[in-house]
Amino acid sequence: MERTFVMIKPDAVRRGLIGEILRRFERKGLRIVAMKLVRMTRREAEELYSPHKEKPFFESLVKFATSGPVVVMVLEGDSVIRVVRNLIGATDARKAAPGTIRGDFANDIEKNVVHASDSPESFEREHRIFFKDDEFVSYE
Ligand code: CMP
Repeated sequence: MERTFVMIKPDAVRRGLIGEILRRFERKGLRIVAMKLVRMTRREAEELYSPHKEKPFFESLVKFATSGPVVVMVLEGDSVIRVVRNLIGATDARKAAPGTIRGDFANDIEKNVVHASDSPESFEREHRIFFKDDEFVSYE
């Protein structure tokens, strides 16, 4: 069974979209195995977005990610990395298909409501910023 790291971003928390976004993951049959509401530190945001360190939008992205609380979680399911990327839609929400989370709730490339790991390697790095191994809950 595969796992992925997902973050509901400050724009979505501010707009009261936590429940709507979780609903989409749950009705798809994905299992939440860890979850919490946190205010990310600058250090955590810089680590989360370290692959984008050299990009012109990095500073703005870090400011946005630390601008309010986020919900971080780990989801489990078959091919969950690909499945969640499909559910959330294209990074640039202006191009995201209707029916996807970004397509339905955002219209901006930066304030795009949700983040999800793009590979098993990203999952490994990203989830360790927020979760210890003993914070996962297994259940049937
Ligand atoms: P996310 O999936 O969290 O991964 C990296 C984030 O960087 C992305 O969503 C956007 O929020 C942001 N991002 C990507 N490209 C751009 C861009 N060209 N301008 C501003 N922000 C961007």
